Amino acid sequence: MTRLIIIGGQWGDEGKGKIVDWYTSKFKPSFVVRFNGGANAGHTVVNGKGKFKLHLIPSGILHKNIKCVLANGMVVDPVELLGEISTLESSGVFTKNILISDRAHIVMPWHFLAEEIDERSRGKNLIGTTKKGIGPAYSDKVGRTGLRFADAASKSLFRAKLEEIYKIKKVHFSAGSKLPEVEIIIENYWKILSKLNKYVTKTEEVLKTASEKNQKIILEGAQGSLLDVEWGIYNKVTSSPTTRLGAYQGSGILPKEGDRAFGVYKAYITKVGEGYLPTRMKEDVEKIIRERGNEFGVTTGRPRKCGWFDAPLAKYTAEINGFDEVVITKPDVLDTLERIKICVGYSLNGKRINSVTSSEVEFNKCQPIYEEVPGWREETSSIKKYKDLPTNFKKYLSVIEKLIGVKISAVSLGPATKQTVTIN
Ligand code: GDP
Ligand code: IMO
Ligand code: MG
Repeated sequence: MTRLIIIGGQWGDEGKGKIVDWYTSKFKPSFVVRFNGGANAGHTVVNGKGKFKLHLIPSGILHKNIKCVLANGMVVDPVELLGEISTLESSGVFTKNILISDRAHIVMPWHFLAEEIDERSRGKNLIGTTKKGIGPAYSDKVGRTGLRFADAASKSLFRAKLEEIYKIKKVHFSAGSKLPEVEIIIENYWKILSKLNKYVTKTEEVLKTASEKNQKIILEGAQGSLLDVEWGIYNKVTSSPTTRLGAYQGSGILPKEGDRAFGVYKAYITKVGEGYLPTRMKEDVEKIIRERGNEFGVTTGRPRKCGWFDAPLAKYTAEINGFDEVVITKPDVLDTLERIKICVGYSLNGKRINSVTSSEVEFNKCQPIYEEVPGWREETSSIKKYKDLPTNFKKYLSVIEKLIGVKISAVSLGPATKQTVTIN
């Protein structure tokens, strides 16, 4: 096994950052690669070096000899990136190993303006985006009006490209809108982009050479499979591919036998932003879980909606990704509960279904069918070995393992990387 793909199995915030850091210690890859999304992601790592919140930089950055790639599939806000690099440097983190694909798209000021207008005009059907310019940046990518790092290799090239795109943008933003003057954008952005240029390279070639040499690579997914633009619960999704399938396209790495995809799932489920969460907990229980699990968005600070483990959704994402193994995070958050619900199917228009509908209108009508299991009512976060976990805890894991249909190979028992237990 030389390539590990780590993917969120739910609606994001499953603990991917922590799990990437854990595998980085264990697997010792030469590269950790982010292949999708942008600063909408918020990945938390708590290890011997401290607590870190990463938005654009791969979670392998806390390990000195690992190259961290922001690959072609990303949309990168250069202002945020420079800020993130300087925050890491001020904590003593080595950042010279960052590589940015010259094909990655640059998030520009008009993307924030467009997102504001789009969300406002969606009215009550808004998506509740992170306001990081993600949707408009990807729209420009497929609409062929995006700017890439390759277009900022020199100031004259950047000026030429920007002026060309600005003409189109002027048509989109009517007179009197907040679109800044072209000269202001050129000067402000060139200041930042010229500082980032030393990191920019053809990352797909670097990764191809690494693959030929059988060097180990971790591909770090952002968001979760239910937010995938193709396979998620459309339209309450992000604008990039978030699954294993997107990992290859978004990095230029070709699929190879032996690649392993790991699905990260919370022992319950959370969702931030708009959209239906079928298993949402009653207010009093949600409050306990939100507090115990610190369920507030890392990027936006918004409270996350909390629900019971949803097996039809979990099985669906396991199948789409072809997960080889599953890691369960945050069961310790459930430590105090007397009884735990698990959604095993839905009732839709009076009929039982176990699958996920493609229509959001139908999805919104799905009522969860629950089974209940007893809790373990014991503190688990300091347990070091799987065999020492409470019996009811192990029973809960084996019930959800069967429902997902993929082996659970590790369980996370707290925010710190070392609070992780393998299951043989
Ligand atoms: P990501 O976006 O998938 O990397 O996840 P986030 O960082 O957005 O959210 C996960 C949150 O849960 C962070 O605050 C983590 O520090 C925390 N966390 C991760 N794993 C565990 C765990 O097993 N138990 C507890 N209690 N917290 C965890
Ligand atoms: P990580 O990588 C949770 C959600 C937003 C919104 C929808 C679209 O930390 O798991 P966008 O700004 O992408 O256009 O917003 O997707 N969303 C996330 N939810 N975790 C994330 O990332 C998310 N990234 C986007 O809340 O509902
Ligand atoms: Mg997150």
